[in-house]
Amino acid sequence: MTYKAKDYNSLIGMEGFSETLLNNHFTLYQGYVTNTNKLADLLTAMLKEGKVGTPEYSELKRRFGFEFNGMRLHEYYFENLGGKTPRDRAGNLAKKVADAFGSYEAWEQDFRATGAMRGIGWTILYQDNVTGCLFNQWINEHETGHLAGCIPILVMDVFEHAFITDYGLKRADYIEAFFRNINWDVVERRLVKNS
Ligand SMILES: [Fe+2]
Repeated sequence: MTYKAKDYNSLIGMEGFSETLLNNHFTLYQGYVTNTNKLADLLTAMLKEGKVGTPEYSELKRRFGFEFNGMRLHEYYFENLGGKTPRDRAGNLAKKVADAFGSYEAWEQDFRATGAMRGIGWTILYQDNVTGCLFNQWINEHETGHLAGCIPILVMDVFEHAFITDYGLKRADYIEAFFRNINWDVVERRLVKNS
């Protein structure tokens, strides 16, 4: 199958995110979609041509996780932005994070602290599909550190391209802007779907 880049132009105008930053970010995302398709085609062709035992096949196979996750994580990220309503303080998310972290505030503190860690990557609130447990997890690059069997509930990009245009090195200010724009309805739906 061929993946098609989704359109997130409706996020333009979001408070705390300049048009330049968002457009650059959309372009980066589109690159992951292009490369995911390209790699899928190359790997299929190599299989047909009997080239699966080659170093080229191994490296392209490894690369697929980087490009695919780069594509999919950006989709989770953009889709959990653009929110216009405050979170539901009595909703399923509030209850589940309080169960897992003691309180919503403790969860948020941990999520922000995870996002503020030095290095590039992603911060993800996961729900374990097996037990329903929640975790805030740090992801290096795109393809390493994911928790097997867990579903992303809230995804925050903390690569420098996600904020440096607007915030320089002030990552905490970007995280503040991210929190002001979370689409809590989307987050709730992801959670409910997997509860
Ligand atoms: Fe990004």
